[in-house]
Amino acid sequence: MSDLFVKNCMLENGEKVDILILKGKIADVSPFIHGVSESVPEIDAEGWLAIPPFLDSHFHLDATLSYGIPRINQSGTLLEGISLWGELKPSLKYDDLVERAENLCRWSIAKGTLGIRSHVDVSGKDLLGVEAMLHVKEKFKDLIDIQLVAFPQDGLLRSNCLENLNNALDLGVDIVGGIPHFERTMVQGAESIKILCEIAEKRGLLVDMHCDESDDPMSRQIESLTYETVRLGLHGRVAGSHLTSMHSMDNYYFSKLLPLMQEANIGVIANPLINITLQGRHDSYPKRRGMTRIKEQINGRLKVAFGHDCVMDPWYPLGSHDMLEVASMALHVGHMTGQNEMKECFRAVTQYPAEIMCLDNYGLQKGCNGDLVILQATDTIEALRLKPSRLFVIRRGKIISSEEPKSSNVLINGETYKVSFSKKDFSWTQV
Ligand code: FE2
Repeated sequence: MSDLFVKNCMLENGEKVDILILKGKIADVSPFIHGVSESVPEIDAEGWLAIPPFLDSHFHLDATLSYGIPRINQSGTLLEGISLWGELKPSLKYDDLVERAENLCRWSIAKGTLGIRSHVDVSGKDLLGVEAMLHVKEKFKDLIDIQLVAFPQDGLLRSNCLENLNNALDLGVDIVGGIPHFERTMVQGAESIKILCEIAEKRGLLVDMHCDESDDPMSRQIESLTYETVRLGLHGRVAGSHLTSMHSMDNYYFSKLLPLMQEANIGVIANPLINITLQGRHDSYPKRRGMTRIKEQINGRLKVAFGHDCVMDPWYPLGSHDMLEVASMALHVGHMTGQNEMKECFRAVTQYPAEIMCLDNYGLQKGCNGDLVILQATDTIEALRLKPSRLFVIRRGKIISSEEPKSSNVLINGETYKVSFSKKDFSWTQV
Protein backbone atom coordinates (compact mmCIF):
# COMPACT_ATOMS: atom_id res chain seq x y z
CA MET A 1 0.00 0.00 0.00
CA SER A 2 1.85 3.06 -1.24
CA ASP A 3 1.33 6.74 -1.93
CA LEU A 4 1.76 8.21 -5.41
CA PHE A 5 0.88 11.51 -7.07
CA VAL A 6 0.21 11.14 -10.82
CA LYS A 7 0.11 14.56 -12.51
CA ASN A 8 -1.31 15.53 -15.92
CA CYS A 9 -3.53 12.57 -16.78
CA MET A 10 -6.23 12.42 -19.44
CA LEU A 11 -9.37 10.51 -18.47
CA GLU A 12 -11.51 8.43 -20.85
CA ASN A 13 -14.07 11.29 -21.02
CA GLY A 14 -11.39 13.83 -22.10
CA GLU A 15 -11.08 15.50 -18.70
CA LYS A 16 -7.53 16.53 -17.67
CA VAL A 17 -6.82 15.62 -14.06
CA ASP A 18 -4.24 14.83 -11.40
CA ILE A 19 -4.68 11.58 -9.46
CA LEU A 20 -3.57 11.25 -5.85
CA ILE A 21 -3.17 7.78 -4.33
CA LEU A 22 -2.75 7.50 -0.56
CA LYS A 23 -2.22 4.19 1.24
CA GLY A 24 -3.06 2.28 -1.93
CA LYS A 25 -6.45 3.98 -2.52
CA ILE A 26 -7.43 6.81 -4.85
CA ALA A 27 -7.76 9.81 -2.52
CA ASP A 28 -8.50 12.49 -5.13
CA VAL A 29 -9.12 12.92 -8.87
CA SER A 30 -9.32 16.61 -9.74
CA PRO A 31 -8.11 19.06 -12.41
CA PHE A 32 -5.42 20.58 -10.17
CA ILE A 33 -4.55 18.97 -6.87
CA HIS A 34 -2.59 21.31 -4.58
CA GLY A 35 -0.91 20.87 -1.25
CA VAL A 36 0.34 17.32 -1.75
CA SER A 37 3.03 16.47 0.79
CA GLU A 38 6.56 16.49 -0.63
CA SER A 39 7.07 13.05 0.84
CA VAL A 40 4.60 11.59 -1.72
CA PRO A 41 6.45 10.33 -4.84
CA GLU A 42 5.35 12.10 -8.03
CA ILE A 43 5.23 11.14 -11.71
CA ASP A 44 4.14 13.15 -14.75
CA ALA A 45 1.75 11.41 -17.17
CA GLU A 46 2.38 14.25 -19.68
CA GLY A 47 -1.25 14.35 -20.76
CA TRP A 48 -1.50 10.68 -21.69
CA LEU A 49 -4.52 8.51 -20.98
CA ALA A 50 -5.09 7.08 -17.49
CA ILE A 51 -7.30 3.98 -17.28
CA PRO A 52 -8.11 1.37 -14.66
CA PRO A 53 -6.15 -1.84 -15.35
CA PHE A 54 -7.06 -4.18 -18.17
CA LEU A 55 -8.89 -7.35 -17.10
CA ASP A 56 -8.87 -10.73 -18.79
CA SER A 57 -12.09 -12.49 -17.83
CA HIS A 58 -11.33 -15.74 -19.67
CA PHE A 59 -7.97 -17.45 -19.73
CA HIS A 60 -6.24 -20.82 -19.26
CA LEU A 61 -3.16 -20.32 -17.08
CA ASP A 62 -2.52 -24.06 -16.76
CA ALA A 63 -2.08 -24.50 -20.52
CA THR A 64 -0.37 -21.25 -21.40
CA LEU A 65 3.10 -21.09 -23.02
CA SER A 66 3.04 -24.83 -23.74
CA TYR A 67 2.92 -24.34 -27.52
CA GLY A 68 4.68 -27.19 -29.32
CA ILE A 69 4.68 -29.58 -26.34
CA PRO A 70 4.54 -32.46 -27.18
CA ARG A 71 3.71 -31.39 -30.76
CA ILE A 72 2.08 -28.59 -32.73
CA ASN A 73 -1.66 -28.46 -33.48
CA GLN A 74 -1.37 -29.03 -37.25
CA SER A 75 -5.04 -28.61 -38.17
CA GLY A 76 -5.50 -25.60 -35.89
CA THR A 77 -8.90 -26.92 -34.81
CA LEU A 78 -10.51 -26.89 -31.37
CA LEU A 79 -10.84 -30.68 -31.36
CA GLU A 80 -7.18 -31.30 -32.21
CA GLY A 81 -6.32 -28.77 -29.49
CA ILE A 82 -8.42 -30.71 -26.95
CA SER A 83 -6.84 -34.03 -27.96
CA LEU A 84 -3.35 -32.45 -27.89
CA TRP A 85 -4.02 -31.16 -24.37
CA GLY A 86 -5.12 -34.71 -23.49
CA GLU A 87 -1.71 -35.98 -24.67
CA LEU A 88 0.13 -33.31 -22.72
CA LYS A 89 -1.86 -33.64 -19.47
CA PRO A 90 -0.43 -36.93 -18.13
CA SER A 91 3.15 -35.62 -18.45
CA LEU A 92 2.59 -32.21 -16.81
CA LYS A 93 4.94 -31.36 -13.96
CA TYR A 94 4.13 -29.00 -11.09
CA ASP A 95 7.27 -26.89 -11.51
CA ASP A 96 6.73 -26.47 -15.27
CA LEU A 97 3.11 -25.43 -14.75
CA VAL A 98 4.15 -22.85 -12.16
CA GLU A 99 7.03 -21.54 -14.27
CA ARG A 100 4.89 -21.05 -17.38
CA ALA A 101 2.02 -19.41 -15.47
CA GLU A 102 4.41 -17.08 -13.63
CA ASN A 103 5.99 -16.09 -16.93
CA LEU A 104 2.56 -15.28 -18.29
CA CYS A 105 1.73 -13.22 -15.18
CA ARG A 106 4.85 -11.13 -15.76
CA TRP A 107 3.69 -10.55 -19.37
CA SER A 108 0.26 -9.56 -18.03
CA ILE A 109 1.73 -6.98 -15.66
CA ALA A 110 3.86 -5.51 -18.47
CA LYS A 111 0.67 -5.15 -20.56
CA GLY A 112 -1.26 -3.59 -17.67
CA THR A 113 -3.56 -6.58 -17.18
CA LEU A 114 -4.04 -6.82 -13.40
CA GLY A 115 -7.06 -9.14 -13.21
CA ILE A 116 -7.29 -12.64 -14.71
CA ARG A 117 -10.07 -15.21 -14.50
CA SER A 118 -8.43 -18.51 -15.38
CA HIS A 119 -10.14 -21.83 -15.97
CA VAL A 120 -8.16 -24.78 -14.58
CA ASP A 121 -8.70 -28.31 -15.84
CA VAL A 122 -10.05 -30.66 -13.15
CA SER A 123 -10.83 -33.61 -15.43
CA GLY A 124 -7.42 -35.31 -15.25
CA LYS A 125 -6.20 -38.07 -12.97
CA ASP A 126 -5.09 -35.60 -10.28
CA LEU A 127 -5.33 -31.93 -9.29
CA LEU A 128 -1.73 -31.00 -10.09
CA GLY A 129 -2.81 -28.07 -12.25
CA VAL A 130 -5.14 -26.77 -9.55
CA GLU A 131 -2.42 -26.97 -6.89
CA ALA A 132 0.07 -25.21 -9.18
CA MET A 133 -2.37 -22.42 -10.09
CA LEU A 134 -3.36 -21.89 -6.44
CA HIS A 135 0.34 -21.41 -5.72
CA VAL A 136 0.66 -18.84 -8.52
CA LYS A 137 -2.50 -17.05 -7.37
CA GLU A 138 -1.10 -16.72 -3.85
CA LYS A 139 2.33 -15.63 -5.08
CA PHE A 140 0.90 -12.87 -7.30
CA LYS A 141 -1.96 -11.77 -5.01
CA ASP A 142 -0.45 -8.34 -4.35
CA LEU A 143 0.00 -7.74 -8.10
CA ILE A 144 -2.84 -9.45 -9.98
CA ASP A 145 -6.38 -10.42 -8.95
CA ILE A 146 -6.49 -14.04 -10.12
CA GLN A 147 -9.78 -15.93 -10.03
CA LEU A 148 -9.70 -19.69 -10.67
CA VAL A 149 -12.53 -21.65 -12.26
CA ALA A 150 -12.90 -25.42 -11.74
CA PHE A 151 -13.11 -26.47 -15.39
CA PRO A 152 -14.04 -30.04 -16.38
CA GLN A 153 -12.33 -29.84 -19.80
CA ASP A 154 -13.26 -33.40 -20.83
CA GLY A 155 -16.87 -33.02 -19.69
CA LEU A 156 -18.24 -33.33 -16.15
CA LEU A 157 -20.32 -36.45 -16.92
CA ARG A 158 -18.31 -37.66 -19.92
CA SER A 159 -15.11 -37.90 -17.86
CA ASN A 160 -16.81 -38.56 -14.50
CA CYS A 161 -14.84 -35.84 -12.67
CA LEU A 162 -17.43 -34.52 -10.20
CA GLU A 163 -15.34 -35.60 -7.22
CA ASN A 164 -12.26 -33.83 -8.60
CA LEU A 165 -14.30 -30.69 -9.23
CA ASN A 166 -15.63 -30.64 -5.66
CA ASN A 167 -12.14 -31.31 -4.31
CA ALA A 168 -10.78 -28.38 -6.33
CA LEU A 169 -13.44 -26.12 -4.83
CA ASP A 170 -12.54 -27.43 -1.36
CA LEU A 171 -8.91 -26.49 -2.05
CA GLY A 172 -9.90 -22.88 -2.73
CA VAL A 173 -10.81 -22.64 -6.42
CA ASP A 174 -13.24 -19.74 -6.62
CA ILE A 175 -15.75 -20.45 -9.38
CA VAL A 176 -17.74 -23.37 -10.82
CA GLY A 177 -17.00 -24.08 -14.50
CA GLY A 178 -18.47 -26.42 -17.08
CA ILE A 179 -18.45 -27.44 -20.73
CA PRO A 180 -21.98 -28.68 -21.48
CA HIS A 181 -21.59 -28.74 -25.28
CA PHE A 182 -18.78 -31.30 -24.89
CA GLU A 183 -20.94 -33.81 -23.00
CA ARG A 184 -22.12 -36.78 -25.06
CA THR A 185 -25.66 -35.49 -25.70
CA MET A 186 -27.62 -32.27 -25.39
CA VAL A 187 -29.55 -33.88 -22.52
CA GLN A 188 -26.32 -34.74 -20.70
CA GLY A 189 -25.12 -31.17 -21.30
CA ALA A 190 -28.28 -29.81 -19.65
CA GLU A 191 -27.86 -32.30 -16.80
CA SER A 192 -24.27 -31.12 -16.23
CA ILE A 193 -25.49 -27.51 -16.07
CA LYS A 194 -28.11 -28.46 -13.47
CA ILE A 195 -25.54 -30.29 -11.30
CA LEU A 196 -22.95 -27.52 -11.55
CA CYS A 197 -25.36 -24.64 -10.88
CA GLU A 198 -26.71 -26.48 -7.83
CA ILE A 199 -23.14 -26.86 -6.53
CA ALA A 200 -22.58 -23.11 -7.01
CA GLU A 201 -25.85 -22.26 -5.28
CA LYS A 202 -25.05 -24.51 -2.31
CA ARG A 203 -21.51 -23.13 -1.93
CA GLY A 204 -22.41 -19.51 -2.67
CA LEU A 205 -20.06 -19.35 -5.68
CA LEU A 206 -20.11 -17.74 -9.11
CA VAL A 207 -20.53 -19.80 -12.29
CA ASP A 208 -18.62 -19.44 -15.56
CA MET A 209 -19.10 -22.11 -18.20
CA HIS A 210 -17.61 -22.72 -21.60
CA CYS A 211 -20.94 -22.84 -23.41
CA ASP A 212 -21.91 -23.65 -27.00
CA GLU A 213 -18.36 -23.27 -28.33
CA SER A 214 -19.22 -24.71 -31.73
CA ASP A 215 -20.69 -23.77 -35.10
CA ASP A 216 -23.75 -25.94 -34.45
CA PRO A 217 -26.87 -23.74 -34.61
CA MET A 218 -28.69 -26.37 -32.55
CA SER A 219 -26.20 -26.21 -29.67
CA ARG A 220 -28.38 -24.34 -27.22
CA GLN A 221 -26.92 -25.03 -23.81
CA ILE A 222 -27.09 -21.30 -23.06
CA GLU A 223 -30.87 -21.77 -22.88
CA SER A 224 -30.39 -24.36 -20.08
CA LEU A 225 -27.85 -22.10 -18.36
CA THR A 226 -30.34 -19.22 -18.25
CA TYR A 227 -33.07 -21.60 -16.98
CA GLU A 228 -30.94 -22.93 -14.10
CA THR A 229 -29.75 -19.40 -13.26
CA VAL A 230 -33.33 -18.21 -12.82
CA ARG A 231 -34.50 -21.41 -11.09
CA LEU A 232 -31.76 -21.17 -8.48
CA GLY A 233 -31.84 -17.38 -8.09
CA LEU A 234 -28.29 -16.94 -9.37
CA HIS A 235 -29.14 -13.79 -11.36
CA GLY A 236 -26.03 -11.74 -12.20
CA ARG A 237 -23.71 -14.44 -10.83
CA VAL A 238 -23.43 -16.59 -13.95
CA ALA A 239 -21.35 -16.09 -17.10
CA GLY A 240 -21.47 -17.90 -20.42
CA SER A 241 -18.09 -18.03 -22.13
CA HIS A 242 -17.63 -18.31 -25.92
CA LEU A 243 -21.32 -18.77 -26.95
CA THR A 244 -20.18 -19.10 -30.56
CA SER A 245 -23.09 -21.24 -31.75
CA MET A 246 -25.14 -18.06 -31.42
CA HIS A 247 -23.39 -16.85 -34.59
CA SER A 248 -25.08 -19.66 -36.51
CA MET A 249 -28.51 -19.59 -34.86
CA ASP A 250 -31.45 -18.28 -36.86
CA ASN A 251 -32.59 -14.78 -36.01
CA TYR A 252 -36.00 -15.86 -34.77
CA TYR A 253 -34.51 -18.15 -32.13
CA PHE A 254 -32.03 -15.48 -31.08
CA SER A 255 -34.95 -13.07 -30.57
CA LYS A 256 -36.35 -15.59 -28.06
CA LEU A 257 -33.00 -16.25 -26.41
CA LEU A 258 -31.95 -12.65 -25.72
CA PRO A 259 -34.81 -11.88 -23.27
CA LEU A 260 -34.06 -15.15 -21.44
CA MET A 261 -30.45 -14.04 -21.01
CA GLN A 262 -31.60 -10.58 -19.90
CA GLU A 263 -33.97 -12.12 -17.34
CA ALA A 264 -31.09 -14.17 -15.86
CA ASN A 265 -28.68 -11.21 -16.11
CA ILE A 266 -26.11 -13.52 -17.70
CA GLY A 267 -22.58 -12.22 -18.24
CA VAL A 268 -21.25 -12.82 -21.74
CA ILE A 269 -17.56 -13.49 -22.35
CA ALA A 270 -16.47 -13.59 -25.99
CA ASN A 271 -12.98 -14.72 -26.98
CA PRO A 272 -12.51 -13.14 -30.39
CA LEU A 273 -8.83 -13.94 -31.05
CA ILE A 274 -9.38 -17.63 -30.48
CA ASN A 275 -12.83 -18.11 -31.96
CA ILE A 276 -12.01 -16.29 -35.18
CA THR A 277 -9.31 -18.91 -35.74
CA LEU A 278 -11.13 -21.98 -34.36
CA GLN A 279 -14.65 -21.55 -35.73
CA GLY A 280 -15.84 -22.02 -39.28
CA ARG A 281 -13.29 -24.79 -39.85
CA HIS A 282 -15.88 -27.07 -41.43
CA ASP A 283 -17.07 -24.37 -43.82
CA SER A 284 -15.86 -24.00 -47.39
CA TYR A 285 -17.03 -20.58 -48.62
CA PRO A 286 -18.54 -18.41 -47.31
CA LYS A 287 -16.84 -19.11 -43.98
CA ARG A 288 -18.71 -18.12 -40.84
CA ARG A 289 -16.84 -15.84 -38.44
CA GLY A 290 -18.04 -17.88 -35.48
CA MET A 291 -17.99 -15.15 -32.86
CA THR A 292 -20.96 -14.68 -30.56
CA ARG A 293 -23.32 -11.77 -31.38
CA ILE A 294 -21.52 -9.14 -29.34
CA LYS A 295 -23.19 -6.08 -30.86
CA GLU A 296 -26.70 -7.36 -30.29
CA GLN A 297 -25.92 -8.47 -26.74
CA ILE A 298 -24.30 -5.13 -25.87
CA ASN A 299 -27.30 -3.32 -27.37
CA GLY A 300 -29.48 -5.69 -25.33
CA ARG A 301 -27.80 -4.31 -22.19
CA LEU A 302 -26.11 -7.56 -21.25
CA LYS A 303 -22.68 -7.31 -19.63
CA VAL A 304 -20.28 -8.29 -22.43
CA ALA A 305 -16.57 -8.83 -21.79
CA PHE A 306 -13.75 -10.11 -23.99
CA GLY A 307 -11.19 -12.69 -22.92
CA HIS A 308 -7.79 -13.62 -24.36
CA ASP A 309 -8.47 -17.33 -23.67
CA CYS A 310 -5.09 -18.63 -24.87
CA VAL A 311 -1.49 -17.51 -25.37
CA MET A 312 0.86 -19.94 -27.10
CA ASP A 313 -0.88 -23.18 -26.12
CA PRO A 314 -2.45 -26.21 -27.86
CA TRP A 315 -5.24 -24.02 -29.27
CA TYR A 316 -3.46 -20.80 -30.27
CA PRO A 317 0.13 -20.24 -31.40
CA LEU A 318 0.24 -16.45 -30.93
CA GLY A 319 -0.39 -13.70 -28.40
CA SER A 320 1.38 -11.66 -25.72
CA HIS A 321 -1.57 -11.20 -23.34
CA ASP A 322 -2.37 -7.75 -24.71
CA MET A 323 -6.07 -7.08 -24.06
CA LEU A 324 -6.01 -4.28 -26.63
CA GLU A 325 -5.27 -6.89 -29.29
CA VAL A 326 -8.33 -8.80 -28.07
CA ALA A 327 -10.59 -5.74 -28.14
CA SER A 328 -9.26 -4.75 -31.56
CA MET A 329 -10.10 -8.18 -32.99
CA ALA A 330 -13.61 -8.04 -31.49
CA LEU A 331 -14.15 -4.61 -32.98
CA HIS A 332 -13.17 -5.82 -36.46
CA VAL A 333 -15.02 -9.14 -36.39
CA GLY A 334 -18.11 -7.59 -34.81
CA HIS A 335 -18.37 -4.68 -37.29
CA MET A 336 -18.14 -2.28 -34.34
CA THR A 337 -16.43 0.73 -35.90
CA GLY A 338 -18.91 3.38 -34.72
CA GLN A 339 -17.41 5.79 -32.18
CA ASN A 340 -19.49 4.54 -29.28
CA GLU A 341 -19.13 0.94 -30.43
CA MET A 342 -15.33 1.21 -30.30
CA LYS A 343 -15.57 2.71 -26.80
CA GLU A 344 -17.78 -0.22 -25.79
CA CYS A 345 -15.09 -2.62 -27.04
CA PHE A 346 -12.58 -0.86 -24.79
CA ARG A 347 -14.94 -1.16 -21.82
CA ALA A 348 -15.25 -4.90 -22.60
CA VAL A 349 -11.63 -5.34 -21.44
CA THR A 350 -11.89 -2.95 -18.47
CA GLN A 351 -15.18 -1.94 -16.84
CA TYR A 352 -17.50 -4.76 -17.99
CA PRO A 353 -15.28 -7.70 -16.96
CA ALA A 354 -14.89 -5.98 -13.56
CA GLU A 355 -18.67 -6.23 -13.21
CA ILE A 356 -18.80 -9.88 -14.36
CA MET A 357 -15.87 -10.79 -12.09
CA CYS A 358 -17.55 -8.91 -9.19
CA LEU A 359 -14.31 -7.01 -8.44
CA ASP A 360 -14.67 -4.48 -5.64
CA ASN A 361 -13.28 -0.93 -5.76
CA TYR A 362 -12.37 -1.07 -9.46
CA GLY A 363 -12.19 2.23 -11.35
CA LEU A 364 -10.64 5.68 -11.21
CA GLN A 365 -13.07 7.30 -8.80
CA LYS A 366 -12.17 8.50 -5.31
CA GLY A 367 -12.11 5.53 -2.93
CA CYS A 368 -11.25 2.94 -5.59
CA ASN A 369 -8.09 0.88 -5.43
CA GLY A 370 -4.97 2.80 -6.48
CA ASP A 371 -4.59 0.67 -9.60
CA LEU A 372 -4.14 2.34 -12.97
CA VAL A 373 -2.32 2.25 -16.27
CA ILE A 374 -0.95 5.23 -18.19
CA LEU A 375 -1.15 4.50 -21.92
CA GLN A 376 0.75 6.40 -24.60
CA ALA A 377 -2.56 7.37 -26.19
CA THR A 378 -4.87 10.37 -26.07
CA ASP A 379 -8.13 8.42 -25.83
CA THR A 380 -9.47 4.86 -25.80
CA ILE A 381 -10.02 4.72 -29.56
CA GLU A 382 -6.41 5.73 -30.15
CA ALA A 383 -5.40 3.03 -27.66
CA LEU A 384 -7.32 0.45 -29.72
CA ARG A 385 -5.69 1.73 -32.91
CA LEU A 386 -2.10 1.82 -31.66
CA LYS A 387 -1.87 -0.78 -28.86
CA PRO A 388 0.55 1.73 -27.34
CA SER A 389 3.22 1.62 -24.66
CA ARG A 390 2.10 1.03 -21.11
CA LEU A 391 4.10 3.96 -19.76
CA PHE A 392 3.29 3.15 -16.12
CA VAL A 393 1.44 0.23 -14.57
CA ILE A 394 0.45 1.06 -11.00
CA ARG A 395 -0.90 -1.30 -8.34
CA ARG A 396 -2.07 0.02 -4.97
CA GLY A 397 -0.03 3.17 -5.53
CA LYS A 398 3.19 1.39 -6.50
CA ILE A 399 4.73 1.43 -9.99
CA ILE A 400 5.10 -2.26 -10.91
CA SER A 401 5.99 -1.83 -14.60
CA SER A 402 7.14 0.94 -16.88
CA GLU A 403 7.84 1.26 -20.59
CA GLU A 404 9.48 3.94 -22.73
CA PRO A 405 7.23 5.89 -25.12
CA LYS A 406 7.36 4.47 -28.65
CA SER A 407 8.47 6.68 -31.53
CA SER A 408 10.49 6.42 -34.72
CA ASN A 409 12.94 8.95 -36.13
CA VAL A 410 12.14 9.29 -39.84
CA LEU A 411 14.80 10.98 -42.02
CA ILE A 412 13.58 12.79 -45.14
CA ASN A 413 15.86 15.13 -47.13
CA GLY A 414 18.09 15.74 -44.12
CA GLU A 415 15.17 16.54 -41.83
CA THR A 416 14.31 14.27 -38.87
CA TYR A 417 10.65 13.74 -38.11
CA LYS A 418 9.48 12.10 -34.91
CA VAL A 419 6.61 9.69 -35.62
CA SER A 420 4.51 8.20 -32.82
CA PHE A 421 1.27 7.77 -34.82
CA SER A 422 -0.60 9.66 -32.07
CA LYS A 423 -3.00 12.52 -32.68
CA LYS A 424 -0.57 14.49 -30.52
CA ASP A 425 1.71 14.63 -33.60
CA PHE A 426 -0.62 16.79 -35.68
CA SER A 427 -3.51 19.18 -35.37
CA TRP A 428 -6.74 17.26 -35.19
CA THR A 429 -10.39 18.17 -35.23
CA GLN A 430 -12.15 16.06 -32.66
CA VAL A 431 -15.29 14.32 -33.95
FE1 FE2 B 1 -11.57 -21.24 -22.83
